[in-house]
Amino acid sequence: ATEALVIFTPSGKRGRFAPGTTVLAAARQLGVDLDSVCGGRGICSKCQITPGTGAFPKHGLTVAADALSGWNAVEERYRQKRGLIEGRRLGCQAHIQSDVVIDVPPESQLHRQVIRKSASDRVMVMDPATRSYFVEVAEPSMDEPTGDFQRLCTALSDQWQVTGLAPDLHILRKLQPALRKGDWKVTVAVNRGADGSVRLVDIWPGFREAPLCGLAIDLGSTTIAAHLCDLSDGRVLASSGVMNPQIRFGEDLMSRVSYAMMNPGGDVEMTRVVREAIDGLAAALAIEAGLTGADIVEAVVVCNPVMHHLLLGIDPVELGQAPFALASSSSLTLGAADLGLAALNPGARVYLLPLIAGHVGADAAAVALAEAPETSDDLVLIVDVGTNAEILLGDRRQVLACSSPTGPAFEGAQISAGQRAAPGAIERVEIDLVTKEPRFRVIGSDLWSTDAGFAEATAQTAITGICGSGIIEAVAEMRMAGIVDGSGLIGSAEQTGTDRCEPTGRTHAYLLHDASATGGPRISVTQGDIRAIQLAKSALYAGARLLMDEIGVDKVDRIVLAGAFGAHISPKHAMVLGMIPDAPLDRVSSAGNAAGTGARIALCSLAARAAIEATVQRIHKVETAIEPRFQEHFVAANAIPHATAPFPELAQ
Ligand code: FES
Repeated sequence: ATEALVIFTPSGKRGRFAPGTTVLAAARQLGVDLDSVCGGRGICSKCQITPGTGAFPKHGLTVAADALSGWNAVEERYRQKRGLIEGRRLGCQAHIQSDVVIDVPPESQLHRQVIRKSASDRVMVMDPATRSYFVEVAEPSMDEPTGDFQRLCTALSDQWQVTGLAPDLHILRKLQPALRKGDWKVTVAVNRGADGSVRLVDIWPGFREAPLCGLAIDLGSTTIAAHLCDLSDGRVLASSGVMNPQIRFGEDLMSRVSYAMMNPGGDVEMTRVVREAIDGLAAALAIEAGLTGADIVEAVVVCNPVMHHLLLGIDPVELGQAPFALASSSSLTLGAADLGLAALNPGARVYLLPLIAGHVGADAAAVALAEAPETSDDLVLIVDVGTNAEILLGDRRQVLACSSPTGPAFEGAQISAGQRAAPGAIERVEIDLVTKEPRFRVIGSDLWSTDAGFAEATAQTAITGICGSGIIEAVAEMRMAGIVDGSGLIGSAEQTGTDRCEPTGRTHAYLLHDASATGGPRISVTQGDIRAIQLAKSALYAGARLLMDEIGVDKVDRIVLAGAFGAHISPKHAMVLGMIPDAPLDRVSSAGNAAGTGARIALCSLAARAAIEATVQRIHKVETAIEPRFQEHFVAANAIPHATAPFPELAQ
């Protein structure tokens, strides 16, 4: 018989095949991305395709109704038991008989493209490090005295070209019952490590349907945020965040390092509590997604070097003094069990992004992964605001990075009414220039309201405090309304013309929300709050200027503001405060949690991990702690917006 012409869409790949070839086999030969977990046994349904019918003038082809073979018993059984979408076939069962055009729907593509929701909305290609395989293992016999593990390895190598597996004890313990229960057919989850290692994560009897899930964790000094993602399509199944319980040992990184230095066993204690917090998050997210911890087979963690060492159970004392030597700077792939994480699958692997330098961590690397400054044509300044700000400056030619100790004020800590970005927190603020009356928006409600109108406008939401983005806007609005002067001083009621400015000892505070009549809180911005924000924003600005000095520029083309907390940071308010250097407002964008996005990208793609590992090698790090110019910039930046630097864009 003559060979049939087979054209795959959307790839456009084509070739000629002998009648009788399965669609899956043809796809594999042509390098068409068609998924399969069961290896063509008609069990997994990952290989679904849609054959075309009728005329395809574009290809000069008419597809006959019987271009593919009829339903065989395996496919028929699948259709009856599980159902198939009208027009779909199992690619591993349908045979090619004559010329045909075959469409591979997105969900059948192993390396499917996912548009990720972010400022840049770039396309991400699914290429997860952990995936599952269905294998049929040879039964043991008296004349074939090999171990079950060795026969599993042979099967994985023959059927899936997966080689180099190490015999992990937790797998050996489950292996024999799983093989016998599954009648010598099992599903295994295999992880590929950053170091080239190939590990078995788990083994289940028979074919396992449930998706594999992974956790993307942004471990910050003040907050820990995590996304639970489906590893087959990158979907976020559940997200949540908690305060980092290490705060009670010290609010910022250096005070935690000192705690470890002064208190024998202090590092052990901090390691324990952060692991417990991650476990708690993982368990809660699994429940929210209707899964169990055992479904979480992988995690990616991004964090600064001190958090990194403490999570790993490494005493961070060396990070407290120059030259800030890291125990290891490269990426790591470790067992969740070795990290004491008990809420995940016991065989789960944890990937930690590489650290850039002693003070510039994997969180900065994750921001670089999410925002890709090394591909930018114009000079971009990326600022990830947290208790430690990660700052990147660069373009195609070079990328510089530093980390600046802003303190936790931007995350709502050290603020009198501060709180984590959670329902009840004021996240947006506006102050009328004439009446000096505030309007605000609270997380959990979409409505803007005045203080007086708040109760009826949003009957269900009680205000509990103010989060990071809320305090940034409040202080900037107070500056614009003349309630705060350039030195950061809050005026009296006479000076400002509003009774909301109340005396508190020798200073004043601006009353933002008063629910005391109904037993609720009074929320004010105090002089202490303004000072905390001034310190934080000066450190941020000084870090950015330091990188600009290093390149020798006094302007950048574009600024990206990112942060793990709350709503996106408002570019206008950030600039009014002088958090960031002057730039045209339309060139300042807000990227949300870039470090968290970077963690998610790394979770979904081995290629992205390789790319960021290479990029990190090229990033030039600047150490703020030993740079005298940092102190100079810091002092000058204390004024709002700045003592000496002009902010011409702001005047417009
Ligand atoms: Fe699994 Fe076709 S490859 S059903």
